[in-house]
Amino acid sequence: MRTQAFENAYGGTPSWEIGRPQGAVLRLEEAGRIGGSVLDAGCGTGDASVYLARRGHHVVGFDFAPSAIAIAARKAADAGLAGRARFFVADALRLGDGLQAADVAPIAFDTVLDIGLFHTLQPTDRRAYVAALRSLIAPDGRLFLLTWSDRNPFGYGPERVRRRDIRAAVAGRWRVESIVDEALETRLGAGHAHAWLAELSPLPVADTSRVAGPGAKLTPPRSRRHPRASQE
Ligand SMILES: C[S@@+](CC[C@H](N)C(=O)[O-])C[C@H]1O[C@@H](n2cnc3c(N)ncnc32)[C@H](O)[C@@H]1O
Repeated sequence: MRTQAFENAYGGTPSWEIGRPQGAVLRLEEAGRIGGSVLDAGCGTGDASVYLARRGHHVVGFDFAPSAIAIAARKAADAGLAGRARFFVADALRLGDGLQAADVAPIAFDTVLDIGLFHTLQPTDRRAYVAALRSLIAPDGRLFLLTWSDRNPFGYGPERVRRRDIRAAVAGRWRVESIVDEALETRLGAGHAHAWLAELSPLPVADTSRVAGPGAKLTPPRSRRHPRASQE
């Protein structure tokens, strides 16, 4: 689905819009796995971002669907959290342009969350996308991907992603700490679907230029560190 299709979906209530953060996000946060500053990639209407801001994180959310971003910004404002949860319109495949256009201070995030964006991208676009995310993460930060999985039946939901698809997309940029079974809650059928939760840590890369451009300021204060992942 491209931008207009998502815009149309946000004209109603999309199947992924469950009115609260995914249980996987709550479990990560409650386990102390989410570091201080958070980039919420493909944030939709911002339920995860606003929840994490309420928990004390500084959150930046982006999405290419303007109506989702408008709703997310309103939720943050209504919760009195507009200073801690900021949102902007950007295409994940042109993230540097989006950061500059939105005048978002270039920072290295402690945590990047992708809850349901990765699996909507064409397989050929995924490597460039995760490379762009790599340039926005603190050296000891974490990327958590929650994707639709190939354990779901054919013909149901979006692109079915295999573990090896995740490994191939991130190779050379991210170390795979773990890829574990998770649930993705939806408004479809049984109310949840099979997902993979991947925990990824950044590999050192020779080219350290950041998508936000030269002179980027790095590593804002953090509230917490990431314990090591327990499982591959
Ligand atoms: C399945 S929805 C999940 C939304 C949100 N993370 C949630 O958990 O409710 C995927 C989101 O990714 C966004 N998206 C898809 N492709 C994108 C792209 N290339 N750039 C930015 N956002 C994108 C869509 O607009 C949509 O909001």
